[in-house]
Amino acid sequence: MAQRVRGVIAPGKNEPVRVETIIVPDPGPGEAVVKVQACGVCHTDLHYRQGGINDDFPFLLGHEAAGIVESVGEGVTEVAPGDFVVLNWRAVCGQCRACLRGRPWYCFNTHNAKQKMTLEDGTELSPALGIGAFADKTLVAAGQCTKVDPAAKPEVAGLLGCGVMAGIGAAINTGGVTRGDSVAVIGCGGVGGASIMGARLAGARRIIAVDIDQRKLDKALELGATHTVNSRETDAVEAVRELTEGNGADVVIEAVGRPETYEQAFYARDLAGTVVLVGVPTPEMKIELPLPEVFGRGGALKSSWYGDCLPSRDFPMLIDLYLQGRLDLGAFVTETIGIDGIEAAFEKMHHGDVLRSVVIL
Ligand code: APR
Ligand code: ZN
Ligand code: ZN
Repeated sequence: MAQRVRGVIAPGKNEPVRVETIIVPDPGPGEAVVKVQACGVCHTDLHYRQGGINDDFPFLLGHEAAGIVESVGEGVTEVAPGDFVVLNWRAVCGQCRACLRGRPWYCFNTHNAKQKMTLEDGTELSPALGIGAFADKTLVAAGQCTKVDPAAKPEVAGLLGCGVMAGIGAAINTGGVTRGDSVAVIGCGGVGGASIMGARLAGARRIIAVDIDQRKLDKALELGATHTVNSRETDAVEAVRELTEGNGADVVIEAVGRPETYEQAFYARDLAGTVVLVGVPTPEMKIELPLPEVFGRGGALKSSWYGDCLPSRDFPMLIDLYLQGRLDLGAFVTETIGIDGIEAAFEKMHHGDVLRSVVIL
């Protein structure tokens, strides 16, 4: 039987979100209904609400979530009712060119629930990133559910579903940070902060945090940075070079998404090193790259999409490291809030006051 639960709706361009009753259908073939326990507030939710992603209003927001599988549809083998899961927005299809070539983290097929959740009047909802988890329950494709150790706190586990995985993955999967490396992270918000933690996990020797906000730099030291550079006061490129014997960093991670920080990332790298772009550019953004330097010594310029993660490989691993006390994922939870607190959380995010606000359901 379809169920009526609370959900957070973005009704139209730039309109404030509201809590409304939504209808969640029973899971069909390949689908699962998840009882959401916690869901983090991400910039992407705000972009949806502002109409910056597409115009398919009304949206059901929320996508960094953990919860318990309540029911599954026909043919579902991935998960079963009662499983504690983290939701992901890029389930791997197993059949596309990227998957068949053994690089499933580049899978481009979206794999979401076929049925629609609706408002009470039957209006179909567009779930943010195919998830829609600022809701008591949500309908997803079973492949979007990854089972992890239920000893993990939901408000911590859910963060792996987006920003924190994007940051850790940029360091360990895309950047391939290894022991002894020098790593510079430009922009130390939720994503860059997670890159710092990923670099530490991978055994980096120097981790240089660069930001214009001193609060983020103080936090970066807690997350594992060995040096900080306030790029409002100091030239970021010169500072990174100075801290790396003039060489530049082996891996530079850009987690802001602005032309000037992309440029800094490029010039702060060792010529044999790797630049990893995580910050999302606007459609018209451009930078100029001097080709003699691009071809300097075999370095690489890479982009990282969702941390090039494989949820079924990476989520349980990172949760285990967290439970063993080796990865302080809890450091990203600045506050837990109720379902009514999302507009206030957007405001705090905008002012840089939080790494993550997490809604408890
Ligand atoms: N130089 C250095 N740091 C900067 C600059 C700058 N010019 N401008 C902003 N920052 C810092 C902010 O102070 C903040 O600490 O970048 C950080 C951005 O962090 P958040 O706003 O928390 O954003 P986050 O969620 O980490 O996402 C960062 O990654 O996935 C993408 O779309 C996402 O483009 C965004 C980026
Ligand atoms: Zn695929
Ligand atoms: Zn997100």
